[in-house]
Amino acid sequence: MQPTPWDHYWELRLSALEDLGKREAILEASRLIRTLAEAPGKTARLLELGCGEGQIIGALLEAHAQAPGIQASVGVDYRRGVVETSRRLYPGMKFLEGDFTDPALLAGLGQFDLVLLVNALHEVFSATFSPERGEVDVPRAKERVRQALGGAVGCLADGGWLVLFDGLEPPGDGGQRVHLRFQSWQARRRFETFAQEFKPFRIQYRETGEAGCVELSQHDFARYIDKSIFLDKALWESERLESYQYFTEAEFRQAISALGLSIHELRTLTVNYEKWQAEVEILTPGVDFPAEHILILARLNTQKE
Ligand SMILES: C[S@@+](CC[C@H](N)C(=O)[O-])C[C@H]1O[C@@H](n2cnc3c(N)ncnc32)[C@H](O)[C@@H]1O
Repeated sequence: MQPTPWDHYWELRLSALEDLGKREAILEASRLIRTLAEAPGKTARLLELGCGEGQIIGALLEAHAQAPGIQASVGVDYRRGVVETSRRLYPGMKFLEGDFTDPALLAGLGQFDLVLLVNALHEVFSATFSPERGEVDVPRAKERVRQALGGAVGCLADGGWLVLFDGLEPPGDGGQRVHLRFQSWQARRRFETFAQEFKPFRIQYRETGEAGCVELSQHDFARYIDKSIFLDKALWESERLESYQYFTEAEFRQAISALGLSIHELRTLTVNYEKWQAEVEILTPGVDFPAEHILILARLNTQKE
């Protein structure tokens, strides 16, 4: 396919996000906004729940400032600091400080043609930490994610689109053992930091007796490898509190379909494969690195298409 002016625009604008999967969410949202804007009488009102510093909704609003209805767009986040930053970076756009799991807050927002949940639901999951268990209360946390998703879908106008991007739990029960060899003593030390400090789940591993090798469950492996890029960095202090893994692909499909949405696209993607390979070698035959992210475009249709 021939590159369009939009491809060039986003290539330049998103060059800093090159190795971040959420770039794909921005590109898909931009395509949807263009489709919405082209349809006669249609609007492109955006809502981003958990918008952080507005990197996603801000870029989309700036790029599509001429799209009909786009001025009615809103970003929501419960951290005052990031809301203030968003307002400073994107003056004239609406950013609200509030908890998007609060039905009263959502009820007052109105209806939107596109609702973005980008790297946000895993924080809802991780916030359901149980001090008694010493880890996340998984059934309760999954229920909170489903409720938050339901609240987001409740903000969609008829025919509106949900763009969901987040981490992914590997399929199955995750109990399969993965045998690893660290590529360096620094990688081994980083893994130990992870195992000691990661808060949402207790990480269990077994020394295999071979130098620089351990064995752990496939689920714990996914948790570790997804976080490995933050170990030794200042971001680890916040990253250690959150699990990117909560739903498998099947659970995402089920949760979204149960809310009456039809899934038009579902992609899994991995952007840090090479960095992971530099950290560890997988010795278990037939096991590869897990898929890192999921991107879903789903549509609410109460009328026939
Ligand atoms: C990892 S950041 C992602 C920000 C943005 N979506 C992006 O991808 O650039 C997640 C954001 O969700 C916000 N968040 C998490 N749970 C929230 C909740 N229940 N209500 C409002 N904001 C929430 C956090 O404060 C944080 O700014």
